[in-house]
Amino acid sequence: MSKLKVLYAVSEAAPFIATGGLGEVAGSLPQALAERYGDEIDMRIILPLYQGIGDRTGFEFVGKTTVPLAWRQQYCGVYKKLVNKVTYYFIDNEYYFKRSECYGHFDDGERFAFFSKAILFILPMLGFMPDIIHANDWQTALIPIYLTTKYSSYEGYRDIKTIITIHNIEYQGVFDLKIAEDVFDIHGKEKGIVEFKGAINLLKGALETAHIISTVSESYSREIFDNFHAKGLAEIIQKNSSKIRGILNGIDTEKYNPENDDEIFESYNSKTLEKKYLNKKNLQSLTGLPQDRDIPLIGIISRLVKHKGFDLIINSMEEILKEKVQFIILGKGDRGYERFFEYLQESYKDKIYVRIGFDSNFAKKIYAGADLFLMPSISEPCGIAQMIASRYGTVPVVRETGGLKDSIKDASLGEGNGFTFTDESPEALCQAVKRALRVYENKEDWRKLVKAVMEVDFSWKKSAEKYYDMYSSLVV
Ligand code: GLC
Repeated sequence: MSKLKVLYAVSEAAPFIATGGLGEVAGSLPQALAERYGDEIDMRIILPLYQGIGDRTGFEFVGKTTVPLAWRQQYCGVYKKLVNKVTYYFIDNEYYFKRSECYGHFDDGERFAFFSKAILFILPMLGFMPDIIHANDWQTALIPIYLTTKYSSYEGYRDIKTIITIHNIEYQGVFDLKIAEDVFDIHGKEKGIVEFKGAINLLKGALETAHIISTVSESYSREIFDNFHAKGLAEIIQKNSSKIRGILNGIDTEKYNPENDDEIFESYNSKTLEKKYLNKKNLQSLTGLPQDRDIPLIGIISRLVKHKGFDLIINSMEEILKEKVQFIILGKGDRGYERFFEYLQESYKDKIYVRIGFDSNFAKKIYAGADLFLMPSISEPCGIAQMIASRYGTVPVVRETGGLKDSIKDASLGEGNGFTFTDESPEALCQAVKRALRVYENKEDWRKLVKAVMEVDFSWKKSAEKYYDMYSSLVV
């Protein structure tokens, strides 16, 4: 039997470039699939060659061509590199990708239209005609759209099946209808596919044209049937309901492994929890907080934005700070939240340490050194931090939404791996934190809980199986 050929198209992927969860997933899911199903699947991945990809050791030049995009003729170079069993392809065009940031440019629509078009255009040059193209988020949404509108009668392309994975439905790729022809090369009747509420909506076009729509947790795959979660796209989701699947993300359990992590102070596992305490002690000392083993330390690592639940946090801080606790907060985002925490730190120097910014090394130290990890998102397609925290034995306190609901079960009533609450209210958050603090007071119960939390398997193993089944279902 010949191998199933899958091309995973994505706008970022670790270890080369990752600005968030998408890049982490793209860096680990294809790897997990290739590792486990290497005999059945030929898994390859394709992304833009950004300026931020500095280390190009081992990159092999595949070829170059000129890609048509509406009236444009754009240079397109292709490089590749094999990482373990996965071939990574890189699309090179300095005009579009030699910029200091991956996203946030005035011409992002054009940049990712080029990227999507280039992927389809260069397939013959790669000598790799995939059975499935797995697109991710709006940046690659044009792939199923172009396959339907431009390539449906082309030999070799006709049978390609497509999946669009929604990592976060908030980002839809919305543009002015006026640029449909000029930038996206979409004309006449084709416009109906991408048009939504008077604008171009690329994600909508992909939902209509892809063979399968998947999202990153089962709960989120149900939540997006309502408009609050679907950010306006609920009717399109409902219309395409038979195509929808939800598969929870995993994490790279080697990259996040307290037993073998030189970024933390002391290695440990669920049997050597004493050493986790040394991480706490060192973290307290690093941040100038009182070094006291018995004060529960709560970590927050997040973008400081509303949908991560920061209004709930802000409105419950005063109440939680009446307890014997310490907080370490790492993140950046809305200036208002940043100021609030900076101000709070001034008033509670011995209880709160705040660092505004992203710092993956410091993040690891928090994952390892904190006792509790707070993540009360208003909406969360999957969420990765709660799984990383668990891997380091830091007990998550989460709001039951999306992937948080699917990965963390409340431990108050016996079995469980964290503390959860449902209501979008500061009171509900406070209660969940206080329940955690009461368990913390009993050393033996806490130790048992931490051990249980660490032993939950958040690797890609189970989910890779589900992706494999999903891929297989498309090619029977
Ligand atoms: C997005 C989502 C997040 C998810 C990640 C990876 O960043 O907001 O919940 O974990 O994608 O799928």
